Amino acid sequence: MKYIKLLLFSGFLFFCLKSQSQNEKASSIHPGEIWKDTDGVHINAHGGGVLYTKGIYYWFGEHKGETNDARVGVTCYSSKDLYNWKNEGIALPVSNDPNSEITSGCIIERPKVIYNSKTKKYVMWFHLELKGQSYKASRTAVAVSKNPAGPYTFIKSYRPNAGKWPIGFKEEWKKSMAGEGTLKWWTPEWRKSVEEGLFVRRDFTAGQMSRDMQIFVDDDGKAYHIHSSEENLTLHLSELTDDYLDFKGKYITIAPAGHNEAPAIYKQDGIYYMITSGCTGWDPNAARSFKASSIWGPWEKLGNPCRGEGVETTFESQSTYILPVAGKKNAFIFMADRWRPKNPRDGRYVWLPLKMENGHPVLYWKEQWTLNDL
Ligand code: GAL
Repeated sequence: MKYIKLLLFSGFLFFCLKSQSQNEKASSIHPGEIWKDTDGVHINAHGGGVLYTKGIYYWFGEHKGETNDARVGVTCYSSKDLYNWKNEGIALPVSNDPNSEITSGCIIERPKVIYNSKTKKYVMWFHLELKGQSYKASRTAVAVSKNPAGPYTFIKSYRPNAGKWPIGFKEEWKKSMAGEGTLKWWTPEWRKSVEEGLFVRRDFTAGQMSRDMQIFVDDDGKAYHIHSSEENLTLHLSELTDDYLDFKGKYITIAPAGHNEAPAIYKQDGIYYMITSGCTGWDPNAARSFKASSIWGPWEKLGNPCRGEGVETTFESQSTYILPVAGKKNAFIFMADRWRPKNPRDGRYVWLPLKMENGHPVLYWKEQWTLNDL
């Protein structure tokens, strides 16, 4: 009896200690470590982005299980201080209907949500790959909701800018060049052909490929969709319609044949900056950076923004979003993913202060930091 009582008492003690540690408030950010939500569970919001509305931050991301395909949907967490995140559930669930474009088993990546003050709707864009087709479909997709945390209603997915040439696309590039289909991958001739629109021409009628993506809303309320296109070789930046639900048909190509993925954009003192990664799948690589005084370019290359140990792998991570901190001038957080392809749900978040040095965005590794470091 005595032993049973002792056992029960220690069980009770263990429960109390555990729930206390679960509810412990976080007051700093620990890049690359397990990041528990307010229920004590590792946050499951990969390839994420953050929306700030009415005093609350909403972090949207890919729900990941043991495999990379989407079995649950887009998750949402909320926070007032950026350290403590409450699980708000599934903002956009995958569908049980096998005919749906977002049927369970499709691939949903890099969801981003913006608020449209004209329609008073929250608009979610994400990269969608159709079930069973790996990364072939290369579509962007859009969903909408009246509430920030959702539920979001899926609208459609497609390859954008069908029948539209990018701004600055030369007349002579609109016609196929002799023998371009037989050029060998990555020879100087092939590269030149990509720079002169080989894949833009190929996809002109059906729409341009859209994989890793980002959404950026400018001070004047105009929204832009930036994505890896042309077999991940070239970035496309396109203006969205005023309701943010479609493409306007106006777009540019950035760094043709430059192999950029994971674009993340921000604006500081009237200048646009972009951080991207190279293309090595789930393996991290060295980040790149760009700047432009007009969103329509030209986008100037600035090189690797990382400094110190870990520069070759972006501190073992890949960019996903740049978060402007509300109410703090020129305070930006670089958000990135440390992918774990063998067990995707174990992926980690690398959030770091994004600084400016001599007109270049720079990132230093930090084991731990607070918003005072911005
Ligand atoms: C990465 C990309 C991820 C995912 C992955 C698939 O390069 O940034 O979002 O698409 O490739 O291999």
